[in-house]
Amino acid sequence: MTDWLIKGAAPLGGAPTDLRLRDGRVAEAGTNLSAAGAQVVDAAGLIALPGLVDLHTHLREPGREDAETVASGTRAAALGGFTTVYAMANTSPVADTAGVVEQVWRLGRDAGHCDVRPVGAVTVGLAGLRLAELGAMASSAAAVRVFSDDGHCVADPLLMRRALEYVKAFDGVIAQHAEEPRLTEDAQMNEGVVSARLGLPGWPAAAEEAIIARDALLAGHVGSRLHVCHVSTAGSVEIIRWAKSKGWRVTAEVTPHHLLLTDDLATSYDPVFKVNPPLRTAADVEALRAGLADGTIDCVATDHAPHASQDKETEWAVARPGMLGLQTALSVVTETMVATGRLDWAGVADRMALAPARIGGHPVPDAARGGSLAVDASASMTLFDPAARWKVDPYALASRSRNTPFAGRDLPGRVVATFLRGRPTVLDGKLA
Ligand code: DOR
Ligand code: ZN
Repeated sequence: MTDWLIKGAAPLGGAPTDLRLRDGRVAEAGTNLSAAGAQVVDAAGLIALPGLVDLHTHLREPGREDAETVASGTRAAALGGFTTVYAMANTSPVADTAGVVEQVWRLGRDAGHCDVRPVGAVTVGLAGLRLAELGAMASSAAAVRVFSDDGHCVADPLLMRRALEYVKAFDGVIAQHAEEPRLTEDAQMNEGVVSARLGLPGWPAAAEEAIIARDALLAGHVGSRLHVCHVSTAGSVEIIRWAKSKGWRVTAEVTPHHLLLTDDLATSYDPVFKVNPPLRTAADVEALRAGLADGTIDCVATDHAPHASQDKETEWAVARPGMLGLQTALSVVTETMVATGRLDWAGVADRMALAPARIGGHPVPDAARGGSLAVDASASMTLFDPAARWKVDPYALASRSRNTPFAGRDLPGRVVATFLRGRPTVLDGKLA
C-alpha cells in the first residue's frame, strides 16, 4: 500500500502537523516530514478528525435496493467523512438472523467504502412479539453489538426488559426508537401550535419521553446498556440527564436535522420534511444543542433514511418518514454547534467519532490522544475544510434517493478527504 503524507492538517483544530500514513497506521506525526516515497495531500487549512462513525444509517439492502444499496449508501458515507456506519435492521428481510446480518456485513466489506456494522433486530420481524436470535447475531461473523427495532418501538416493557438482560452477556446495547405507539396512532407531525393550525394529527413529545423514562428505569434496574435513538424533545434531554445522574448506563443520539430544522417547515406540506420522530419546536432545538454540548446527548447520528421518489414525493399523509443525512451531517453540525461556539473540533470528534464508536462497542484506540490521529493508531480519518461553503444539490449526492431536507441550502464546511485504515476512500471531495 502507498504511503500518504498529509501536509499541514490541524488535528482536532490544533497546530498544523504533517501525518505520515503507512500500512494502515499513522507512522509519524510532526512538522516538515519528508515526502520521500509518499503521495502528498496538501492539507493546509484543513481540520483532521478521526473517521466519523454513524450509529444510525438505513442502507435499505436487502429489499429496497431502488432506494439505497450498501454500495451507494457507503459511498455517501465516505463522501460525508464517515469510516464506519451501523446499518439499521429494518430491511426486507429484516436483519433478525445471523444470516442476514452476515450478508449485510459482507456487502459492506466487498464495497470497501467504509466499515459496515450491522444492527440486529430486537424482535423477530420487528413485530414486537418475540425476541430475535440476539446471541446468534452476536456470535456471527458480523459480531453484532447493537440491537434495534428502529422504525418501531419495542413497546412491550417485559420484552424490553428481557432484551436488556440478554445483551448484558456480550456487553451489547439496545437502541430504542422511543415512541409510545398508542399515543402516536395516525400522527403526521409534532403535536403543537403548527399541527393545530394545519389540522394534522400530532405526535406528542410525551410519546417519546414516556418510553425513555420507562426504559431508563429498566436499564437501571437490570444494569444493562440502553441507547436512545434520535432524541427530539427538550423533555427527553431532561430525562436522560436525570438517568445519567443516577449512574445508569444510558446513552443518546441526536440527528443533524433535529439540531437545525423545526416543525413550521410542515406548513409547506413538502413531505421531504416528514420524519419520525418529527421536527419539533425552536425550544426543543435549543435544548438538543445544549444537551449535545454538555454531553447529556452523547453523539450525533444521522438516521440517514433514503426513500424512493414514489414513496416520498407524494402527498404528506402517505409519504414515508425519513431524510438523507450522511453527506450533510458534518456541515450541519458545523453550522449548529461549531459556528455557534457550542463545540470545538475536539468536541465534534468526540460526538461524531469517539463516542459513537464507544457506544457501538468498537472503541477507537488511543481515544485520549485523539484516537485515529495518534501515532501508531489505525489511520482512519477525515480532512475537512471549515472555510468552504457549498449548496446542497439532491441530484449531486451519492445516495440512490434524493430526499434531503437541505436541498438548496448553503452549508459550511466540506469533506476534502477520507482515509480508511491508511487508504483514501475520498480525495479532493470525490470518491478515490
Ligand atoms: O424517519 C424515519 N425513517 N424514522 C425511523 O424511525 C425509520 C426511518 C426509515 O426507516 O425510513
Ligand atoms: Zn427511528
